[in-house]
Amino acid sequence: MMRISAAVEALVPEMTAWRHHLHAHPELGYEEHGTQAFVAGKLKEFGVDEVVTGMAGTGVVGVIRGKRPGNRSIGLRADMDALPITELTGKPYASTNPGRMHACGHDGHTTMLLGAARHLSQSRDFAGSVVLIFQPAEEGGAGARKMIEDGLFERFPVEVVYGMHNWPQMPLGSFAMHRGPVMAATDEIRIEIAGKGCHAAMPHTGVDPVVAAAQLVSALQNIISRETDPMDRAVLSITAINAGSAFNVVPDTATLKGTVRTFRADTRKRVVGRIREMVEAFAKAFGVAMELHHREGYPPTINHDEQAAFGAEVAAGIVGEPNVARDQLPSMGGEDFSFMLEKVPGAYIWMGVGGAEEGRILHNAKYDFNDAALPVGVSWWTGLVERHLSAG
Ligand code: NI
Repeated sequence: MMRISAAVEALVPEMTAWRHHLHAHPELGYEEHGTQAFVAGKLKEFGVDEVVTGMAGTGVVGVIRGKRPGNRSIGLRADMDALPITELTGKPYASTNPGRMHACGHDGHTTMLLGAARHLSQSRDFAGSVVLIFQPAEEGGAGARKMIEDGLFERFPVEVVYGMHNWPQMPLGSFAMHRGPVMAATDEIRIEIAGKGCHAAMPHTGVDPVVAAAQLVSALQNIISRETDPMDRAVLSITAINAGSAFNVVPDTATLKGTVRTFRADTRKRVVGRIREMVEAFAKAFGVAMELHHREGYPPTINHDEQAAFGAEVAAGIVGEPNVARDQLPSMGGEDFSFMLEKVPGAYIWMGVGGAEEGRILHNAKYDFNDAALPVGVSWWTGLVERHLSAG
């Protein structure tokens, strides 16, 4: 039995229409011009006190002040970008932008924060201010970092910041909060291997980059399985091996690509350092030239204890204590809300939306955000605000 207020329940038809509009018009990171105009237009229509566009290009920030005076503040963040996927849902509101799709439910995230904006701008039943953060480019573009670089927290200082992601592996009417680590640090690696091509029947006349690459792929796993404390968490996945094209030619070069996922800063540094050492050693051992290219992705997403407990408590007020996991195991995925949690205390929660049992999972061409979750998410946002800003 979920506790959703009549005022929030009344927003459902309108929110569903917004969600379907956003779903039909997905835009990739930093291209969210239509979404930005839609969000800013709605916020102005609701009478939100300040509406600022242009941070990180396509970002939108709204500020709502409560009817009671107060200097306290809270930030709520939603991501707006879609993915380069061709939609296969067959829904009447399916993507009208070829090769673009809201397959991660960010259309739902944007809609729920708009719903909260609508409710809070009417009720204003709090003391202080709410900063609504609609960020671009969560999917690899580090839109959160860009907004911070553009002065988000200087211009709109907040005491705390919260984020949310829909989670199809958990049933509707449930939430999961993490104590500490939520999502991993993401790093990309590319290893370029240069040997000397030759006739495959006469390998001794060249230097084979394929054999060197193959042995390196296996050896790299040692860094995780033998050198990393099993109670720590790390993943190293080589995800691409490219070399050659013929049956009887040893190619000149080979390229490996992969990702490294970690939680602790020292583990992250050590794993990448050990990859570099192995690359250098293998180059020497196999007589090839090897070069490691490393690109730092998102930092780990780490919840702050006090805000994680508070966010879980608000969730329990909506769906009931038994439906809130307060000590969820982290995921090795990445999330750029991490940049905000590095600057401001806060927490990031998973909201159950169901659907995974039918194969509808995030980043899948058949994914569609569950509209029944809209009032649940709005209730969490408004609950955080009304409780955090209950007294000036
Ligand atoms: Ni996402």
